[in-house]
Amino acid sequence: MSKVIAVFGAGTGLGVSVARRFGREGFQVALVARRKDRLDALVEQLAGEGIEAAAFSADLSEPAEVPALVAAVRDRFGRIDVLEYGPIGFEQNFTPAAELDAATLEGLIPLLLLTPVEVVRAVLPEWTERGDGAFLLTQGYSAVQPMPHLSGIGPVMSAARNYLYSLNGELADTGIYAGTLSIAASIARSEMAEAATAGAAASESLAAFPVVDPDDLAEHYWDMYTKRDRVEQVHPESLAPQPTAG
Ligand SMILES: NC(=O)c1ccc[n+]([C@@H]2O[C@H](COP(=O)([O-])OP(=O)(O)OC[C@H]3O[C@@H](n4cnc5c(N)ncnc54)[C@H](OP(=O)(O)O)[C@@H]3O)[C@@H](O)[C@H]2O)c1
Repeated sequence: MSKVIAVFGAGTGLGVSVARRFGREGFQVALVARRKDRLDALVEQLAGEGIEAAAFSADLSEPAEVPALVAAVRDRFGRIDVLEYGPIGFEQNFTPAAELDAATLEGLIPLLLLTPVEVVRAVLPEWTERGDGAFLLTQGYSAVQPMPHLSGIGPVMSAARNYLYSLNGELADTGIYAGTLSIAASIARSEMAEAATAGAAASESLAAFPVVDPDDLAEHYWDMYTKRDRVEQVHPESLAPQPTAG
């Protein structure tokens, strides 16, 4: 039976690149996002490359819907071996810390913190039984490094990163891997990057970051998945936080 990767938050940027990278290794692919027409186009694109994929339309800002979604993917493919979580949309904007309020934070928490926790709860029993599985959490660099004007998303993603680190430690020696990829770059071909290029969401802080091909990020994930030797990969690596002297 083929292995299966579920890409939760699948678009034209990183999502389809991760699907393609794992698909090339023989994985079947479940693609999850809200807009079915865009998912169907990605499924067709992957089929043209010999990769079997299926689309699942769901709103990941509804953590209560996770069990049904995971069950639907299992109904279609029989199993889930790897789950990459990286949904992002125009609703998730950076906010300067001085302008942040509770309502803004509350709006970000379901998609960026509550749902990934529920996703892990939904897949862990299967992975524990098999003694294998991998949860890959994609984050922006503000989860790692606080920066002026780039708050809002940062505090919530850093909470998810904190959770992921604990999870990684707890799962050591179980065969289950939890890792996070933190991206200090603008992802080519993503809707977000295209909007930023057009000036809609750009800021001086973001303009300082390089552009990355999502295929290179997907390669990080394949390396992390196969080696399982680190909890976090920062891209570019030069921006990884340095360990403090002990
Ligand atoms: N793009 C960048 O420049 C950039 C920079 C740094 C970090 N990142 C991180 O990298 C990851 C991938 O980003 P990407 O832009 O390359 O993504 P992508 O794979 O191009 O697309 C992500 C998809 O998530 C879906 N999504 C958004 N909200 C959702 C929701 N509530 N429920 C279900 N699906 C939802 C969107 O589709 P629908 O709208 O159809 O649901 C979108 O197409 C994200 O974690 C992001 O935070 C991105």
